[in-house]
Amino acid sequence: MNGRYQRTHHCNQLTRAEVGQTVNLSGWVNSCRDLGGLVFIDLRDREGVTQLFIDPTQHPELAVVARDIREEWVIAATGTVRARPDSMVNRNRPTGGIEVGVETLTVLNRAAPMPFNLEDPSVSEDLRLKYRYLDMRRSGLVNNLRLRHRITKVVRDVLDQQGFVEVETPILSKSTPEGARDYLVPSRVHPGTFYALPQAPQQYKQILMIGGLEKYFQIARCFRDEDLRADRQPEFTQIDLEMSFVTAEDIIATVESILVAVMKQVAGREVQPPFLRLTHREAMERYGSDKPDTRFAMELTDLTAALRQTEFRVFRAAIDAGGVIKAINAKGQGNSNRKQIDAWTETVQLFGAKGLAWLKVGAAGELSGSIAKFLSEAERAAVRAATQAAEGDLLLIVADRPRVACEALGRLRLEVAKAANMIPADCFNLLWVVDFPLLEFDEQEKRYAAVHHPFTSPRDEDVDKLTSDPGNIRAKAYDIVLNGTELGGGSIRIHTPEMQQTMFSALGISPAEARSRFGHLLEALSYGAPPHGGLAIGLDRFAMLLAGAPSIRDVIAFPKTTKASCLMTDSPSTVDARQLDELHIAAKAEEKPAPTP
Ligand code: AMO
Ligand code: AMP
Repeated sequence: MNGRYQRTHHCNQLTRAEVGQTVNLSGWVNSCRDLGGLVFIDLRDREGVTQLFIDPTQHPELAVVARDIREEWVIAATGTVRARPDSMVNRNRPTGGIEVGVETLTVLNRAAPMPFNLEDPSVSEDLRLKYRYLDMRRSGLVNNLRLRHRITKVVRDVLDQQGFVEVETPILSKSTPEGARDYLVPSRVHPGTFYALPQAPQQYKQILMIGGLEKYFQIARCFRDEDLRADRQPEFTQIDLEMSFVTAEDIIATVESILVAVMKQVAGREVQPPFLRLTHREAMERYGSDKPDTRFAMELTDLTAALRQTEFRVFRAAIDAGGVIKAINAKGQGNSNRKQIDAWTETVQLFGAKGLAWLKVGAAGELSGSIAKFLSEAERAAVRAATQAAEGDLLLIVADRPRVACEALGRLRLEVAKAANMIPADCFNLLWVVDFPLLEFDEQEKRYAAVHHPFTSPRDEDVDKLTSDPGNIRAKAYDIVLNGTELGGGSIRIHTPEMQQTMFSALGISPAEARSRFGHLLEALSYGAPPHGGLAIGLDRFAMLLAGAPSIRDVIAFPKTTKASCLMTDSPSTVDARQLDELHIAAKAEEKPAPTP
């Protein structure tokens, strides 16, 4: 029986050109129909579906076997390709013009009844995750994994051609501060000590530069214990790179070469480098976001100057307190009802704004709405001009501190665009955001924190501010943004131990703490570190956007839920007491309840 399931073709290949050929096909039963004695089986494999046909008058024994066959059984068939009658051609399928008249049929394996309808899109994601291997068969996940494979293949080829060396860095490593909590692994050999799983290979790749590797890359697994969302997983993958003797321009050019190649070879799309660049400040002022979605306009306008003398106390108070008045013009949305505007008000409030003022633009340009009566004729004219208001538009306005006003309207801008269908489908907008601030004041911790990470270099002209004006330093840092998603980020690094020490001090990290956490890096920097920099692209996010998928879970073979569990293997799970003993650990947590059947 050896080889009885070896194929001559995949299930997407046979057409009328093969009519008359004897073929072997193997796969899963997509469906099985018994139409008045004639049995039709849709056989599916990785590549497609082919219809098998069994005529009980010619093969009564096969018809008996076939009638028992159920969905998702694994079978092999030998038969002859024949043309379907014209009226039976299925034009939605490459193999829709033929069927295979079965001559031998082997059941290779049975399948229990499916726990859910594999093609029902309304089935809960939890159930799909529990049975990930079943969901994979028909949901398109296999295609997403193939797309992901093609991305990494192109990346490897492009970087190899440019002299990059792929290096694996440790998973059992030491904490790198990328802003999330670490996953810790207890050491058995060294009681009471822990490895940290890498949040990114940041320090290792910098040390590889000190070691003289010059061009490093890795398709790197990263682990971050943070609150999860559709574009975040606790373990994810970066296309991580680092280069020596380069400026930001060199890194940007390298990353553009990767993105151009992937877009062309994987998505069949031409994107033209150099990509648009916005400074962080420009991005915030015009789009209210450090990852602007420029697929549609609706830019923020500043009404502060126009309304500086206003009698409207809410605006006046905001301006007097050093704030700004920002607006977006939701083109053509003047017919939005109260409920919609209330929902948008909640959105801006969620992002810290105190309220949302709105004005509808009438036929003669007249303004009506929540604050119309508070504005003088001149102010109305100025608002109209600044926002380029036209009949039927809806002006949405927030007065607040600059950051709150921009961010709240930036979020609202996205929501309005979605609600009003303003975002063109099938469009890939890549851009750089450069000149990020180096530090940001953390109100809770009452100290400065690194916006990117503590190894990022300040811009040369801002170095002096490290001690005098830390909030106003620009970094040699850049993010690459695709359709409003932060695809990747990187920077030129600090490469002298003195500057690194100054940076740690600015972050409130004492010399003693710096030595215990980063002593290895400080020491390595003292032995002739070359100037260097790099970037990491989130592979999962990139694959998600190219696949047009709503979540990175759709491009990860075995993703975790938003509660960071794997429903398929039921992890995390308890371990037995002996294992804990060996690791010198006493668990405080309550026993996890047994899973409900
Ligand atoms: P950063 O922290 O910005 O930079 O991460 C780089 C990119 O990784 C992706 N990413 C994630 N993807 C999925 N799930 C997550 N939880 C997650 N977190 C981050 C994003 C992000 O843009 N070491 C630096 C890079 C450098 O400076 O070279 C770093 O890790 O797409
Ligand atoms: P009030 O007089 O406080 O009821 O506010 C009048 C209008 O201004 C209402 O539509 C509020 O939603 C709006 N509003 C209040 N605070 C702000 C703010 N900070 N920015 C924009 N609009 C606001």
